[in-house]
Amino acid sequence: MDEVAAAKAALNKVLPYVTSAADWESPRPFTMNMVFTWQGLRALGLPKNDLDSFPDEFRAGMAARKEILGDSGASDPSKWVAPLGSGDIHIGVIVSSETEKGVRAPLTLAEGLQGVTCIYRIDVGVPPTGREHFGYRDGIGDPFVIGSGASAHPGQDAVMPGEFILGYPDESGSIPPLPGPEVLTRNGSFLAFRQLYCDVAAFRRFLRANARSKDDEELIAAKMVGRWRSGAPLMLAPERDDPELALDSTRNNDFQYFAADPKGLICPLGAHIRRVNPRDGLQDTIVSTNIHRLIRRGASYGPVLPEDVVDDDGVDRGVVFIFMGASLRRQFEFIQQQWINNGDFVGLGTEKDPLVGNNDGTGGYTIPARPIRRHFNGLPGFVSVRGGEYCFVPGLNAIKWLAT
Ligand code: HEM
Repeated sequence: MDEVAAAKAALNKVLPYVTSAADWESPRPFTMNMVFTWQGLRALGLPKNDLDSFPDEFRAGMAARKEILGDSGASDPSKWVAPLGSGDIHIGVIVSSETEKGVRAPLTLAEGLQGVTCIYRIDVGVPPTGREHFGYRDGIGDPFVIGSGASAHPGQDAVMPGEFILGYPDESGSIPPLPGPEVLTRNGSFLAFRQLYCDVAAFRRFLRANARSKDDEELIAAKMVGRWRSGAPLMLAPERDDPELALDSTRNNDFQYFAADPKGLICPLGAHIRRVNPRDGLQDTIVSTNIHRLIRRGASYGPVLPEDVVDDDGVDRGVVFIFMGASLRRQFEFIQQQWINNGDFVGLGTEKDPLVGNNDGTGGYTIPARPIRRHFNGLPGFVSVRGGEYCFVPGLNAIKWLAT
């Protein structure tokens, strides 16, 4: 059997275990999904015409888009963990479960396959703290996909399904043309996989050096993200943390910016969540926020740095994100380039996202406040890219088609 036939046979074997959206609410021991890089589709023998019809950024791959993504310095693809960004990764398998045992069965199956070789694996999970490494609760803000069958939480923006799934009407009201053969791409999506190192010790040192007290450290941390570390949004808890609000999904997303806080006195204009989802905050500009939304899932890797340690222990730790949407360029890349690594859209010039921007010690961060605003100079980079890949997420029928 040649290599392509062996890989297709492997896909056929895995297919029955790939998670379907049907019966989503029923309990299951694990979920498993498969994604393909452009190189992977090529290796599986997709004809040239079809390969050429995919968007440029997907064909080029994440590493080649480093200028747009701001992946320079410690984040430059030449420093990425091999084989990320090398073009050698063809298929990605995402397995999740609430138990260790749950992930073992599908992984054993995948490892035993002929025709495919596992060249990279990363184990991620939720740390015992229930928070990501910098200490924040994450995974609260996500758009509501119209027609998904779920019910929207108060404050969740309702976004057209074509923004996330190919072959459906998007925010323009029409269905954009599909790339590749329809059987492959209808019901599919694109995904950016991003492995991000978190320099927790540097973040703690920064807070300590700039705060007047422990409480002030928490305030600065909240002003950098737009939520207290508990997850409570500044817009609803401006003065102090509110852990009950943080956990209440009927309230913790129910806020806007435009009328309530035009100058960022409550939630700074440059805070992480206000940048990556400005909600109604740009309504007096030509930017439509809904065309730059993502479905986002993150999980942590590496051990937690013990509380209060401010010296780096040299251990690799961070977050692995998947960002999904119908257009890598208009969604993931736009947010990364225009909103995270640029401040122009809210009049902040060269200021970048204080937590996840590609800061290099030369920039600053401003917290607007009355009577006196606060400004921090020499903002170090707290997050650097360890690697990433652009992938296509086919529907179940499309995987079946790829396997034949
Ligand atoms: C290590 C890097 C990162 C960390 C630690 C981080 C952390 C957080 C935290 C703590 C929140 C608040 C919880 C929530 O609203 O769900 C958040 C929200 C969010 N982040 Fe990040 N983030 C990171 C990178 C990114 C990147 C690279 C993007 C986009 C390209 C992004 C997009 C978002 C979005 C869209 C939200 C929701 C905002 C909202 O709807 O209000 N994040 N992030």
